[in-house]
Amino acid sequence: MSDARCERAFIPLSVPSLQGREGEYVQQCIDTEWVSSAGAFVTRFEEDVASYTGARFAIACVNGTAALHLSLLMAGVVPGDHVLVPSLTFIAPINTVKYCGAEPIFLDCDAFYNIDVSKLRRFFESETRIEGDACVYRQTGRRIAAIVPVHVFGGAVDMESLSALCLEYRIPVVEDATESLGTRYTAGELKGRHTGVTGEFGCLSFNGNKIITCGGGGMILTDNESVARRLKYLSEQAKDDLEFFVHHEVGFNYRLTNVQAAIGVAQLEQLDQFIATKKANFQRYRQNLADTARLQLIGYPPYCDSNHWFYSVQIDGYRREDLRALIQRLAVQKIQARPVWELNHRQKPYRSCPAFEITKAAELAEKTLNVPCSSNLTFEDVDYVCEKLIQEVK
Ligand SMILES: Cc1ncc(COP(=O)(O)O)c(C=O)c1O
Repeated sequence: MSDARCERAFIPLSVPSLQGREGEYVQQCIDTEWVSSAGAFVTRFEEDVASYTGARFAIACVNGTAALHLSLLMAGVVPGDHVLVPSLTFIAPINTVKYCGAEPIFLDCDAFYNIDVSKLRRFFESETRIEGDACVYRQTGRRIAAIVPVHVFGGAVDMESLSALCLEYRIPVVEDATESLGTRYTAGELKGRHTGVTGEFGCLSFNGNKIITCGGGGMILTDNESVARRLKYLSEQAKDDLEFFVHHEVGFNYRLTNVQAAIGVAQLEQLDQFIATKKANFQRYRQNLADTARLQLIGYPPYCDSNHWFYSVQIDGYRREDLRALIQRLAVQKIQARPVWELNHRQKPYRSCPAFEITKAAELAEKTLNVPCSSNLTFEDVDYVCEKLIQEVK
């Protein structure tokens, strides 16, 4: 190992890049003393995100989890309902189902880690019945009140098929686009549209590991004006009289602060550049790993132009315990890597919930490794990661 290698800095999995006007805009908040949950940057960030994604309205929230929680409530989820969710995803959307007092039903994924829509059709056909205006889960007799498709790793769920199916079965859709800001459809009826704006509710996250960050933050996208107004009202403690603080219902303090929004505005200005860098680095991984049969870099669904947020490598013959050992060996080489999340239908709070034929997600969880993908990653970093990865799996 050369001296340069010995001094190499740790290569994290996914960290933000704050090289734009973040400092300048935050300074404006401090200079004007507008640092809290009202201020010009909140409105500007909402308008900028709406205009970037093509949504008519965007409602800023304290984080993506809050955005999902409010959207599920607005979609009409009430205690005792079921909500359809993927098993292979970060646990936040699953937890928000619980916050509404509802119970998740877990679904399998396709080869790109997103909900398998043909399996979803089989689920509806064999496991549900229509009663009046509701789709009922036969095993419990309870209503299925919503579905949360997650655009995993910056890819895109086949929303054209999923939305048509959910219309047929009367299921409201809340898109979790927290990982896919900037991803667009390139084929079919949704061609040209962003993820997060294909239905009534789309949720974004600006957590530190996402493609743009506010430190923490979230957003709900909708085209429906009255829904947008109500989401804002609920996120601001449901104030019915702004002077006398009269409240007719229980609201939430889910607002984003002006300081966070200021960072968000500056980050959004750089989003297209981040995507370009991520695409170039993805191609570099692809070239470097092309001759290693055991390592397969997984792309994104063919019907979308992905933001390339997260990179996934599948390793032939690997099990989860092999991944654990590999991750430790890579950490010694100053590389952070990570397996996909523990499947949610196996997590302690959710083990007793229904799960429908989850086989693909179980297979992918055994052999998938996420490798560094930050938007400030250099080709030299990518080359180093690939060199070590190839050495370690041989
Ligand atoms: C798929 C998914 N949904 C929801 C969230 C929640 O977002 P936040 O961390 O902003 O609450 C995240 C990420 O953190 C996520 O990856």
